[in-house]
Amino acid sequence: MKSIAVIGAGTMGAGIAQLAAGHGSSVRLIDVDNDKLDRSMAGITKRVERMVEKGSIERGAGNALLAKIRTRGEMTDLGDVELVVEAVVENLEVKREVFARLEAATTASAVLATNTSSLSITDIAAKLNDPSRVVGMHFFNPAPVMDLVEIIAGEKSGRRSIDVAFDAAKSWDKTPVRAKDTPGFIVNRVARGFYLEGLRLLDEGVAGVDEIDGIMRAHGKFRMGPFELMDLVGIDVNFAVSTSVWERMGKPARLTPHEIQGRLVEQGHLGRKSKRGFYTYAHDAPMPAVVVDRRSFQLSPLLSDVMLAFSARAGAITAGSTEQYVFCRILGAVINEAGLAYSDGVASSDDIDTAMIKGTNYPRGPLAWSDEIGHRTVRGLLKALNGTVSDGRYESAPLFRDALD
Ligand code: NAI
Repeated sequence: MKSIAVIGAGTMGAGIAQLAAGHGSSVRLIDVDNDKLDRSMAGITKRVERMVEKGSIERGAGNALLAKIRTRGEMTDLGDVELVVEAVVENLEVKREVFARLEAATTASAVLATNTSSLSITDIAAKLNDPSRVVGMHFFNPAPVMDLVEIIAGEKSGRRSIDVAFDAAKSWDKTPVRAKDTPGFIVNRVARGFYLEGLRLLDEGVAGVDEIDGIMRAHGKFRMGPFELMDLVGIDVNFAVSTSVWERMGKPARLTPHEIQGRLVEQGHLGRKSKRGFYTYAHDAPMPAVVVDRRSFQLSPLLSDVMLAFSARAGAITAGSTEQYVFCRILGAVINEAGLAYSDGVASSDDIDTAMIKGTNYPRGPLAWSDEIGHRTVRGLLKALNGTVSDGRYESAPLFRDALD
């Protein structure tokens, strides 16, 4: 990819510009805010300097990277770019206006990609003369570090546009996966189960935030539990994604955003960035800041049996019933959402698994995990859990329901 433009020099735009320039692409980095451009270039320079000091790149290569990025305030004179990656604010009207300008400022063969995480690619492209030029290229933060890029086909995206975006991601040493233009695409949808089920367990008084995190780390081999991860991502960001996916999916019970999160956002307890979220970061080590109102719970013999089978087959070494219950509910919810995404045609099973491993650091792909556990056992767990609720939120994905194993 010889020449690209990145629109929006915020967190994501700066990261994408650094990534592409580091792989030899000439980058025009454009933002309406000149201060932002200066700050972004200063940030990129600092990061490159650190890489040179650590010896991860040569000084010459660092200088070459910086020389590849040119900043400017207007979307003009883009006749030579092959690809544009838009990373402006998450607002449909602003993005539509940016794309209308881009359509006029580029040649007809240039592919126009959006880094949106929650808007529909089809909607962003709807008012253009040629919507086939538009695709989604969903990078993860920080873009130079995170391996995954979701390549999203809107209703009108052309085959060639998808291929150009896919090949560009590969040429920047990323792992691209293909996804359909659906709420949350792959990662932001499938990961909802991990967070929401953790929140429900906390709310029901089954276990505290540190216990739930510890169980998922110890028995699921997740690098971080749901609460640590929400604090890292930002509770406000996580809550906004939950709300958007839930609303765009037609408000299904299983994806209902949790009021505990809403409350923390109102109180300004946003996670690490505000020094307090589910944990407080005022001491040397994080301490739980949301206290569990512990209550006892009853498990039917049927649920106990199926939990035992599920956790053993999932490779967990769960001892007590609380550990097993937490583990089964959270992993069960993640696997079921992956199965639902697969059944909805969002992506192939390989791409769903790759996306969850590369995009969220899951230890295994949820669908490969469900194969190991056995679809019958997955279905058995979901059915038993569904018997404990009145809103049908554990209704099994067709993938598991229809399996003959
Ligand atoms: P940000 O707020 O850090 O940066 C947005 C930038 O866009 C600002 O510098 C702003 O001045 C600029 N801008 C606004 N209107 C503009 C216009 N009309 N023309 C040119 N520049 C304009 O936002 P961030 O976090 O970088 O997000 C950008 C996009 O990437 C959003 O669509 C977001 O949903 C998506 N995204 C964000 C991720 C994250 O973790 N921050 C992860 C993946 C996607």
